[in-house]
Amino acid sequence: MSFWTRRKAIDTITAGHEGGHELKKTLSWPHLVALGVGAVVGTGIYTLVGDGAGMAGPGVILSFLIAGAVCACAALCYAELSTMIPASGSAYTYSYVAMGEPVAWFVGWSLVLEYTLVCAAVAVGWSDHAASLFRLVGFPEVLLHGPHQQGIINLPAVIISMAVAGLLALGTRESATVSMILVVVKIAALALFVALALPAFNAGHFTPFMPYGFGAHTLQGVGAEGAKFGVMAAASLIFFAFYGFDAVSTAAEETKNPKRDLTIGIVGSMVVCSVIYMVVAATAIGASPTDVFSKEGAPLVFIIKSLRHPLMAEVVAMAAVVALPTVILAFMYGQSRIFFVMSRDGLLPRALSAVNAKTGTPVVMTLLTGALAAGLSGFLSLKEIAALANAGTLAAFIAVGMSVIILRLRDPRRPRVFSTPIWWLVAPGAILGCLYLFYSLSAKTQIYFLIAHVIGTVLYLAYGVRKSVLAQQEKAAG
Ligand code: ALA
Repeated sequence: MSFWTRRKAIDTITAGHEGGHELKKTLSWPHLVALGVGAVVGTGIYTLVGDGAGMAGPGVILSFLIAGAVCACAALCYAELSTMIPASGSAYTYSYVAMGEPVAWFVGWSLVLEYTLVCAAVAVGWSDHAASLFRLVGFPEVLLHGPHQQGIINLPAVIISMAVAGLLALGTRESATVSMILVVVKIAALALFVALALPAFNAGHFTPFMPYGFGAHTLQGVGAEGAKFGVMAAASLIFFAFYGFDAVSTAAEETKNPKRDLTIGIVGSMVVCSVIYMVVAATAIGASPTDVFSKEGAPLVFIIKSLRHPLMAEVVAMAAVVALPTVILAFMYGQSRIFFVMSRDGLLPRALSAVNAKTGTPVVMTLLTGALAAGLSGFLSLKEIAALANAGTLAAFIAVGMSVIILRLRDPRRPRVFSTPIWWLVAPGAILGCLYLFYSLSAKTQIYFLIAHVIGTVLYLAYGVRKSVLAQQEKAAG
């Protein structure tokens, strides 16, 4: 059999794995909703809402709607696949089943890119909110920013990345519980923002609604070289704010009742977050002209300050400082699990997936992920990291939509605990929506994505194609 047609069978995946390579089943749906909301609500709404408003004007509200609709389609596809194939690995594992090993590697590599970059991006966003605290304890300015902002290194971002990795390495259960408390803080802070900013609502701020038009395009002499503007350009960045629910599906192997818990975890966290975003974005635009708050690193905090609530502004900033690490936590968790499954499948060195006997977690992998995210967050800009993370995520979502279609056609009788409603519309909707968002990203991001995948393909051809468990089985079978 050629490696192109090498596929996993659903029944083997769900049958379990031999000793030393199995994760503890410690999670149920409240943990998963917390993990989901914890992963979704973060730097996207706290920081990138400003960048998005700068790219689209008040039309950024449409960007939220478009990105949300695409993610809703993808979430429904995820819910079907994660309950049908309740094994760790998320889009990577679904692609292995539906489309075979090379596509699975491409998707796995995209997820590695996505999860690591999200951790790094959120760490930078966290550092923006925490900078005043670090100044208080005497941190020099050059250690608060990366080279793109005339600094040497973004040390707070490095510190938070490593701290979260340490927490995760200690054990899933503990970190999910901590995450649940912090999720409440994060949502409460957004509610406080709405309560303070809504009385200042001015409908006049919504005109002109789309100063840069709808489709993504560059503007001569405006913004950085190659930067795109328009509602779709903003949607391709704001997309960052919506994902994270996919991190829930990476926990499938560790859930007590995967069928019920995952459905509630994925769909529930998506719906809750979409509602919150629409309200927060509309409130922000109503309270402040987009060309004013779009220039701020912490736009929500800025708006509250400008409405003369300095103390409350500090409260919201501190809530972000306390709670944004939940996003890093959830993505780092997802990242270490993707690595874990890929190495268990033999596509990456197997030693990386060793589970520590005491904690029941892949400690080496978790700490390696932390170090990688720390390195990136110390030196790169948030907008660039977030856009590249989006490219990886879009690739994974496209693969999930394709997997739903392929498995519906190939294996229509297999019981589906959760069936994507009108799948023939929703799955293509997810695929086409993601393609349009990918097209709307800047050329620079698209090129970086391509380079990352050239490197990934070389790695696969040099290692995984021969070492994968399926390749070994084929060899043994002669
Ligand atoms: N959706 C996550 C955030 O906005 C990645 O931080």
